[in-house]
Amino acid sequence: MPLFVPNELARQLDGNSPIAYDFKMANPRTPAPLDPAALAKSLAPFGESRMLPPAAYTSDEVFAWESANFFSGWHCIGRSADIAAAGMQRADKVGETTVLLVRGEDLVLRAFANVCRHRGHEILPCGGSTTARAITCPYHSWSYRLDGDLFSAAGYQGESNFDVSEFPLAALCVQEWHGWIFLDPSGTAGPLEMHLAGLEERIGQYQPERLVVMATHEYVIEANWKIIIENYQECYHCSSIHPELCRVSPPESGENWAPTLGSWVGGWQDLREHAMTMSLDGHSDGVPIPNLSATELRRIDYIGVFPNLLVSLHPDYIMTHRAIPLSPGRTWVECSWAFPPEAIASPTFDPAYAVDFWDITNREDWTACESVQRGLESGFAKAGPLSPAEDAIYQFVTMVARGYLGQPLSPLKAAAPNSQTEKVDH
Ligand code: FES
Ligand code: FE
Repeated sequence: MPLFVPNELARQLDGNSPIAYDFKMANPRTPAPLDPAALAKSLAPFGESRMLPPAAYTSDEVFAWESANFFSGWHCIGRSADIAAAGMQRADKVGETTVLLVRGEDLVLRAFANVCRHRGHEILPCGGSTTARAITCPYHSWSYRLDGDLFSAAGYQGESNFDVSEFPLAALCVQEWHGWIFLDPSGTAGPLEMHLAGLEERIGQYQPERLVVMATHEYVIEANWKIIIENYQECYHCSSIHPELCRVSPPESGENWAPTLGSWVGGWQDLREHAMTMSLDGHSDGVPIPNLSATELRRIDYIGVFPNLLVSLHPDYIMTHRAIPLSPGRTWVECSWAFPPEAIASPTFDPAYAVDFWDITNREDWTACESVQRGLESGFAKAGPLSPAEDAIYQFVTMVARGYLGQPLSPLKAAAPNSQTEKVDH
C-alpha cells in the first residue's frame, strides 16, 4: 500500500512554491452554510434526532461547500486495474478541476494537477487516456517524465535563466488500497489509514485487488449524492420497493456495526436458506471467494466509505458503487461487479446472474431517491425522524453534520489502531 506524498505538494502547502494551483479548498473550520440549530437536531441522540435539513440536499452553496471540503479530502476515484501498466495516463474530473493519474515505470501510481507548467494547457482532456513513456502537453509539447519532472521544453536550450527542475507537474496525494484508488487533492486530510481505520478486518479477507471487474453500469440519478448513500444504508425500504431482494435476503435480518475511528458506516444482512448469493433466484454462477468464513459465506456486508464509495461484499462477488456529485440534485454513479479469477476462468462464465439482479434493484432505488429529491425541493419538506432500523443512516448523517461544523467525522476521539468494531442491534 505505497503512499505517495510528494515533496512538491509539501512545498505548495508551505506556501513557498511558485505554483499557485487553487483546488478551491475552504478553511475546514468554516462551517457549512446551514442553520446550526438544524444540525444540532441531526446530532441529537439516536431516537431523538432529525435528518439533515432539506437545504443540505438542495442548496448550491452547500454543494459548493461539500465540493471544497468533503470531496477535496480522501475519496475514491477508481480502480487500480484500470491504470495498471507502466506509462498509462488518465485524466479525471475531481470537483471543479481535473487530475492526471500516471502509472510510472516503477509501477507506482502518481497523481498530478492536469495542468501544464508552461501556460496551463490540460495535459489530457478530462476523461482522456493514453499510454506513453513520457507525459507530453499537446499545446507546445513540453515533456515530463512519468514521475512529473520536466525534461524537455522546445526552444529553451541555452536559455540561462530557464531550469527544467523548477517546473515539475504539481503532484497530489494518491494512494491505492485493495485495488481502489483514493485521492486527497487538498493534501491536508491526514493518513488514508486513519480514514479507513477498522476496515481492513472487514474487507481485507475478500482480497478485492484479486477480483476482476466483469461488468460496469453507469447511472445518472436526479438526486443529491447523500440521498443515494443514505438509501444504501438501510433496508427499512426493502419490503416496500424490493420484492426481488426480499426473496433472497430477509430485510429485517442483520446488524450494523458501531462507529469506529474510521470514516465509514456498515452492516450486514443474511441470505435466505435457499440462496447462495444475491441473484434473482439465489443461485450463483460463480465460485465462493477463497478463504471466507462460514459466516461470511451466508451473508452480505454493506459498507459505505465516506464520502463516495459503497462496497457490497457477497460470498462470490463484490459490487461497488462509486458516486460523483454533479450538482445538488444530480449524481453520477458507476456500479461494477468483480469476481474471483477462479470463476471467470470458466469459458462459460456469465456475470448476468449478479448484474441483472442488482440492476433491477439499483433502478428501484434510484426511483425512490429521485422522488425524495423532488420532495425535498418542494418547499414543504421538513427534516424527519429516523426509525429504529435506520441507525446506520444516523451514523452517516451525524458524520456529515459533524463535517459541516468542521469537526472530525468519526465520533470516537481516542486513536486505537487495533480497536475492534462492535455490533449493535437494530
Ligand atoms: Fe503546455 Fe505550452 S501549455 S507546452
Ligand atoms: Fe434499496
